[in-house]
Amino acid sequence: MLEEWKTVTRKTKRRIEKENNTSSNCVEILSNINFTRSDIQHGISKVEKASEELIESAFFHKFCKYIETVLIKYENDCHEETSMLNEIVCYGLGSVSNSYIARYQLAMLILLLKFLSQRTGNNCGNKLIPCYVYDPIFNNFDVAILENFKLKVLSENEEGRRKGSSEHGISIFYMIHCDKFLYDNLLCENLENRTMDKIIVIGNSFKTMWERLPESVLKNEYKFIYKIISEDLVSETMLDNWKDNDAIFNDTSIHCFRKFSLT
Ligand SMILES: C[S@@+](CC[C@H](N)C(=O)[O-])C[C@H]1O[C@@H](n2cnc3c(N)ncnc32)[C@H](O)[C@@H]1O
Repeated sequence: MLEEWKTVTRKTKRRIEKENNTSSNCVEILSNINFTRSDIQHGISKVEKASEELIESAFFHKFCKYIETVLIKYENDCHEETSMLNEIVCYGLGSVSNSYIARYQLAMLILLLKFLSQRTGNNCGNKLIPCYVYDPIFNNFDVAILENFKLKVLSENEEGRRKGSSEHGISIFYMIHCDKFLYDNLLCENLENRTMDKIIVIGNSFKTMWERLPESVLKNEYKFIYKIISEDLVSETMLDNWKDNDAIFNDTSIHCFRKFSLT
């Protein structure tokens, strides 16, 4: 990783705001930097370049194929038409103005969004499936780049506590290399609300966490991750590495939970 990441909770954020004498408005931003229109254009073209590289890769096509296979399973189980994806939510992307890893992950998110919107017929007249992004590290420059790609920056730190969508349709959570507490909060929220069948999680492999962490740590600190693995409630498809020594998408899996009764 290029940068040292810090977990930012609501409390930490309030403290930083207090210290900096800043207050939240619509989108809470911890740091503001000066930039020009041409800086933005430069940032956007870096992401577009990453998209061009990804779209040519077997990795991207395999990624789409895996997601599509999972969605077809959901659709078959629900006997519904294809347009059942309600939203994509991205947590923990990192700062796209500071990190090339975040830029590649953003490029992949945009490509996936287009692919999935086209697939569900949402892309007629450029209509995309709603896609929400949040990372407490975003600065105003990041927000400008993200909004250029029609992504909606959430105004609140949900700390991963978001329920899968409404009765019909599902939510995809795109959370590459997020801290474990975010996955745990997401699982907690959806287990408690019985909406596990409404979410798909693209993020660090739960299976790898199980293999690498002592059972006591998982059990005590990440009890919802522990629960879904120990009770065999998750079905996981691991992505190949994009490149050798891939620091961008390594250890990433697609997790779904539909098949299981989560009582
Ligand atoms: C390990 S970094 C991963 C960054 C990037 N995705 C990567 O692979 O390099 C974890 C990210 O989660 C973000 N994060 C921390 N708390 C968060 C929260 N409550 N909601 C969303 N993101 C959060 C951090 O700011 C950081 O950017």
